[in-house]
Amino acid sequence: MADSFDAVVIGGGPGGYNAAIRLGQLGLTAACIDKRGSFGGTCLNVGCIPSKALLHASERFHEAGSEFAKLGIKAKVELDLPAMMAQKNKVVGELTKGVEFLFRKNKVEGIVGEGRITAPGKIEVKAADGSTRTITAKSIIIATGSDVAPLPGVTIDEKQIVSSTGAIALTSVPKRLLVVGAGVIGLELGSVWRRLGSEVTVVEFLDRVTPGVDLEIGKAFQRILGKQGFTFQLSTKVTGVEKKKSGLAVTVEPAAGGDKSVIETDVMLVAIGRRPYTDNLGLETVGVALDKRGRVITDHHYKTNVPGIYAVGDCREGPMLAHKAEDEAVAVAEIIAGKAGHVNYDAIPSVIYTFPEVATVGKTEEELKAAGVQYKVGKFPFTANARAKTIAATEGFVKILADAKTDKVLGCHVIGPEAGNLVAEVVLAIEFGASSEDIARTCHSHPTLTEAVRQAAMGVEGWTMQM
Ligand code: FAD
Ligand code: NAI
Repeated sequence: MADSFDAVVIGGGPGGYNAAIRLGQLGLTAACIDKRGSFGGTCLNVGCIPSKALLHASERFHEAGSEFAKLGIKAKVELDLPAMMAQKNKVVGELTKGVEFLFRKNKVEGIVGEGRITAPGKIEVKAADGSTRTITAKSIIIATGSDVAPLPGVTIDEKQIVSSTGAIALTSVPKRLLVVGAGVIGLELGSVWRRLGSEVTVVEFLDRVTPGVDLEIGKAFQRILGKQGFTFQLSTKVTGVEKKKSGLAVTVEPAAGGDKSVIETDVMLVAIGRRPYTDNLGLETVGVALDKRGRVITDHHYKTNVPGIYAVGDCREGPMLAHKAEDEAVAVAEIIAGKAGHVNYDAIPSVIYTFPEVATVGKTEEELKAAGVQYKVGKFPFTANARAKTIAATEGFVKILADAKTDKVLGCHVIGPEAGNLVAEVVLAIEFGASSEDIARTCHSHPTLTEAVRQAAMGVEGWTMQM
């Protein structure tokens, strides 16, 4: 085994493993170090993949129990939670093994252990048994990702007081679930347990759910989740939690201060964001600069202030999304190989995999207003889409925002069935610098949900036809 590489990646998540694979494809010798014991990072092990497996399974369970009747199907359903968890674990196992296969295919060495930079170009890897190995690399890529942001004064035990990691592994359905934070994790995992039978209360510090998402979409989302049985306490903060003989007593108070009250619950999910993870990495030793939020500072070529050290993914600025990490991984590998790697941050979609899904790309109306950009809006509701009617999923709408003068597409926001897939064509449109008219004049198959995107695009110039 060689101990010297062209490039070594620390972290085996979407940022790390994709960088290593691309380096291998480009003919460079590469290694990827991860301390977790299985590759794939947060995303494959405890994030995107297990949560989506549970979202899918719980949605089918809910559909079979409550929605099939609308289609004339009578079904008696029963939950087998251990089997649902086993299916989720199987998917995780297959995909993490898949990363090892891709490493072999691209001649990447996968190293299990904790990596620490001891000097520029030098990394010490500590294995679980305490043994160490020193490797050298012309380039080092930091891709150490992120970790759960703690709630001050609250200790996560992953049984009663859980982060997302505990919430995807509960062994029984809690009667009551209190979610702290109405962000992506809170609403996705809240949906899983709501569908499986929990009473879900969401406590959110701000006066709205999903901050950062287009406000009109956020309001519709909260209304729809409310109909599904979610209870929201907005502008509220958790100030303490006490373990009782059975359950938890959670103290809350208005965000702006005021009278305290207590919410009794069985399980509490802390989902107030994630923080960059760079602990024990040796960054102080080599002098890699971090910003105020602990993120590794890089330039547009992912270079840190120390020559030969780069960073990608959740540990640097930008949305904490697997596909953003993956795009940066490809770009940094190409840059290291002497090519012109680049990421277009205006064309990074974001999807919340609830039902209905929420999908966004580009600018929100609030952002355009704040920037003083003149824009036009085209909207189309799924109630007027033929396919949505046939599948009895008519809640939600598509909204397209385009520049008032040039008609260039600036943003798209969808709440509705398959929103995550629907937004993809607008991501491509933005990537190509397309106009709303380009989408409106593109043939879309009938009857599909994609027609709602086309009709919304027609709406920008005021010629929506099917409403
Ligand atoms: P990570 O995936 O966090 O990988 C970093 C890896 O580095 C980890 O495995 C860690 O063990 C390892 N590491 C850290 N320090 C060291 C060290 N010193 N030595 C060796 N190894 C080290 N994003 C989406 O786009 N879509 C989704 O549907 C989605 N769902 C999510 C659901 C949940 C519950 C969570 C928590 C996150 C979800 N995300 C989703 C976010 C996504 O998981 C992250 O954006 C993505 O994993 C970031 O990739 P990364 O490579 O930067 O870091
Ligand atoms: P988030 O940033 O999406 O939401 C956190 C929420 O908690 C916000 O609404 C915030 O206002 C609120 N909050 C913060 N402090 C609070 C407090 N003390 N009390 C009450 N509310 C408080 O973070 P979340 O949901 O933890 O997810 C972390 C990240 O993981 C996301 O930002 C996203 O990047 C990624 N992710 C992506 C998914 C996807 O793409 N489908 C799925 C899950 C996670």
